[in-house]
Amino acid sequence: MYPEENKDLDHYLVRGGAPLVGEVTIGGAKNAALAILAAAIMSDETVTIENMPDVRDTNVLLDAMSCIGVIVDRVDRHTVKINGSHVRNVSIEYELVKKIRASYYLIGALLGKYKEAEVPLQGGCNIGSRPIDQHLKGFRAIGAEVAVRRGEIVAKADKLVGAHVYMDVVTVGATINVMMAACMAEGKTTIENAAKEPHVVDVANFLNSMGANIKGAGTDVIRIRGVERLHSATYSIIPDQIEAGTFMFAAAITNGDILIKNVIPKHLESISAKLIEMGCQIEELDDAVRVRSTGELRATQIKTLPYPGFPTDMQPQAGVTLARAKGTSVIQESIFENRFKYVDEITRMGADIKVEGNTAIINGVSGYTGARVSSPDLRAGAALVLAALSADGVSVIDDIHFIERGYEDFDRKLRELGGTIEKCDADADIQKFTLKTAIV
Ligand code: EPZ
Repeated sequence: MYPEENKDLDHYLVRGGAPLVGEVTIGGAKNAALAILAAAIMSDETVTIENMPDVRDTNVLLDAMSCIGVIVDRVDRHTVKINGSHVRNVSIEYELVKKIRASYYLIGALLGKYKEAEVPLQGGCNIGSRPIDQHLKGFRAIGAEVAVRRGEIVAKADKLVGAHVYMDVVTVGATINVMMAACMAEGKTTIENAAKEPHVVDVANFLNSMGANIKGAGTDVIRIRGVERLHSATYSIIPDQIEAGTFMFAAAITNGDILIKNVIPKHLESISAKLIEMGCQIEELDDAVRVRSTGELRATQIKTLPYPGFPTDMQPQAGVTLARAKGTSVIQESIFENRFKYVDEITRMGADIKVEGNTAIINGVSGYTGARVSSPDLRAGAALVLAALSADGVSVIDDIHFIERGYEDFDRKLRELGGTIEKCDADADIQKFTLKTAIV
């Protein structure tokens, strides 16, 4: 049904050294799409989703949805029609969703519509323990009985009644999940200490386009008034803030000049601010940003925070770039407890980074040398590609299936910017690539 993941082509070959120059168009936001696809089944009418990223996580979720009876009509790579009127059961197979964390959005959607759901506890990137206690607290607050049985979250309610939910931590997933589950509950639900990420707002706007009554998304208090039913809609997903930020740092680390198109500059403000501190030039247009780096990058300090702070999903990309800046930088990762796994890999390219707890002390070096490294997770993998593109010589990046979870055509987009990168599946290709690219 969807492009089969080719497990063999699980490596990138990269020859670094050329500045990335040109234009790139950003796709739809993965972390909005995953919630919106799940929420689409809450209507019994056909919902059309546009600007959907064609990445592994969205394809895995669409497969899981079609296996429970959702009609999934893939109009093209980026457009899908979904009809949830024929869902035949509310229990999702583990095999279907073990690879994606966002399968938990199916709990909120199924519980909100059918008052019951059975969804396996999810997998996902191992960037830290990924509890879902706040999700369950919200479901229970609106009247669901929730238990964890045989590795599954089992949620059931005779009826859902609006309630007041105060999130103990700012959590994107729980904010979105409770918002979904509450949008057809009886009465009013208030979520306090809510996450304010752009994709939280996008999901609220999508639900409202189907007839929900949600106010305050984007602030820390979201008010939901339950409605009887949700109707059809056509909705286009916002541009991916993190894909855009990744290409912004690609320009910085390669001394390049990239026009990043189809973005919402407001969503990128914390990223632009850091790049300016590091010595880059940023030009903001209506729906694009241009990033230029012409000289030595400067050290700075970063602390990851919920939106509008510096995004945790941009931390590895910033880390590998600061490791080439002049001076000593400090990064504090305040969201996840295991998001420095790229440090061991980038050290093989010559970086000088010391991690103590959730803090990385980065002593900038003058350059990287190519090496064979492995992607520990989605964003760390993307960061290693950026480092390889700025390194002297050839690098091999293994386990790129992590990167393809969240980046569509990553190698093609980088090649179109002048990067020397291609997918390969065996050591023989590595020799060929090394010889071929050594000649140019
Ligand atoms: C979403 O994960 C994103 N994933 C992550 O992006 C992103 O890093 C994260 O939000 C923060 O922005 C998707 O949207 C699919 P959280 P999520 O709930 O929802 C704690 C990527 O690279 N917490 O906001 O799982 C949690 O441990 C991925 O695209 C609880 O304690 O993140 C963490 O410390 C990686 N209890 C913090 O909150 C809960 O019930 C933020 O987690 C839920 C979360």
